[in-house]
Amino acid sequence: MATKTDKPLEGKVAVVTGSSSGIGKGIALRLAEAGASVVLAARREDRLEEVKQLIEKDNGQAIVVKTDVTVRQQVKDLITKAESTFGHVDIMVNNAGAFTYTLMKNVKEDEWERQIDVNCKGVCNGIGAVLPGMVARGKGHIVNMSSDNGRAPMAGGAIYTGTKHFVEGMSKCLRLELEGTEVRVTNIQPGYVDTDLFDKVVDQEAMDLFEKKYPNISDVKMLTPDDIGRAVLYAVTQPSYVAVQDIQVQPIGFYLQ
Ligand SMILES: NC(=O)c1ccc[n+]([C@@H]2O[C@H](COP(=O)([O-])OP(=O)(O)OC[C@H]3O[C@@H](n4cnc5c(N)ncnc54)[C@H](OP(=O)(O)O)[C@@H]3O)[C@@H](O)[C@H]2O)c1
Repeated sequence: MATKTDKPLEGKVAVVTGSSSGIGKGIALRLAEAGASVVLAARREDRLEEVKQLIEKDNGQAIVVKTDVTVRQQVKDLITKAESTFGHVDIMVNNAGAFTYTLMKNVKEDEWERQIDVNCKGVCNGIGAVLPGMVARGKGHIVNMSSDNGRAPMAGGAIYTGTKHFVEGMSKCLRLELEGTEVRVTNIQPGYVDTDLFDKVVDQEAMDLFEKKYPNISDVKMLTPDDIGRAVLYAVTQPSYVAVQDIQVQPIGFYLQ
């Protein structure tokens, strides 16, 4: 039988974008286990339904809202649905992301645009949909999925690294705007996590450069989505005077610099 301390997020509402797989799924499961009502958002509805079932099997609460984060109106509709179902959004996790190894000289412009649309515009759409409400209430928590690439360069990943630096710079300014409120902004900066993110190869030359630069990469024990879920849970369960700005989580022995 769960006690109150087992459920620190009881009564809270959390939206997690990109929760149909990987890290977002790991975060959604952890937040739901901690008692939050979770709104699952991504494009693959069938995968979201599977996550919902896992949550409900564990006596948690979740709904599925099919959402493309690059379409601003869909993200606004997501928040409207979250509010009409559970009440105002306390925690917004902007996790949806896209990655492709690309060398700038190979000019894979469609891949550049896809990453910028999801990783930059998608995060802005998420913030825009919840921020006025959070500011009006004087509290709330925005969690942005950055990366160790938000801090350091990576061979073969210029555009992706650029998008995560965008998330970092924007979040730093946003925190300044929010001084005097209890609206908090946490950036999560994972290293190498075992997900589907790296499956799409469109520029073999970029991938070869990455592997040449990091020849021992296949020996690294990758992080799991749940490792990141626990980091997010830590950030969103601190007392209201504690602002966890960044959490960098790396697989031991693999540090980008
Ligand atoms: N894996 C790593 O090593 C690593 C390291 C640092 C940071 N990250 C970041 O972690 C986040 C999650 O990635 P992951 O590793 O968990 O990979 P993943 O399993 O491929 O997850 C990506 C998620 O983003 C969603 N997504 C992509 N485009 C979307 C769109 N237009 N609208 C809505 N949702 C969209 C996908 O859902 P649908 O396809 O169903 O829409 C999926 O749920 C990303 O921001 C990524 O940059 C990952």
